[in-house]
Amino acid sequence: MTRKQLSMREKSLVFIGFMGVGKTTVAQLVAKNLYRDFIDIDQEIEKEFGMPTTEIFNEIGETKFREKEREYVLHYCKQPLKVISLGGGAFMQEEIRKACLHHSIVFYLDISWDSWKERLHMLIDSRPVLQNRAVEEIETLFHERESTYKEHKSKLMTDNFNEEEVAEYIIESIKLAWDLYS
Ligand code: S3P
Repeated sequence: MTRKQLSMREKSLVFIGFMGVGKTTVAQLVAKNLYRDFIDIDQEIEKEFGMPTTEIFNEIGETKFREKEREYVLHYCKQPLKVISLGGGAFMQEEIRKACLHHSIVFYLDISWDSWKERLHMLIDSRPVLQNRAVEEIETLFHERESTYKEHKSKLMTDNFNEEEVAEYIIESIKLAWDLYS
């Protein structure tokens, strides 16, 4: 049975971007304003394994984490009326990219390297991908991923805005798009 094509208004909103750019906080604010369910893929995985992401990477392995990530994203991005924040590495999986771009509306929260590197000290303990890497390696990863994140529907540079302002801008732009296209 073919899945009914969701209308622009029904499609779920998916947030992508590098670690620590504010995907979870912004998505939560947008979900609250639009009276939609908020889904954080990392939290879903941590709930299932009953441990934080760093422990999952160390004890169960990144491959298993990425498998679960794919399972959850493919499950939720096809559903209507969700607001979903993806982990920063999820969009690197082609199957995830294709499904999100086909079934949902993808927002890319962008940030400059100069702004992001000021946050590294706050992120390092909870992000296994950053651990045991030199800053130069992390900068390379940052720019490598940028080219993949660019396959989005809508981008927002967050450098000079706090999460509330970013969420407000996205809410206004999505309501405008709904009025225009549905
Ligand atoms: C990862 C980002 C993390 C989490 C995991 C891997 C990545 O999510 O999924 O540590 O590879 O970029 P956030 O983007 O929410 O930090």
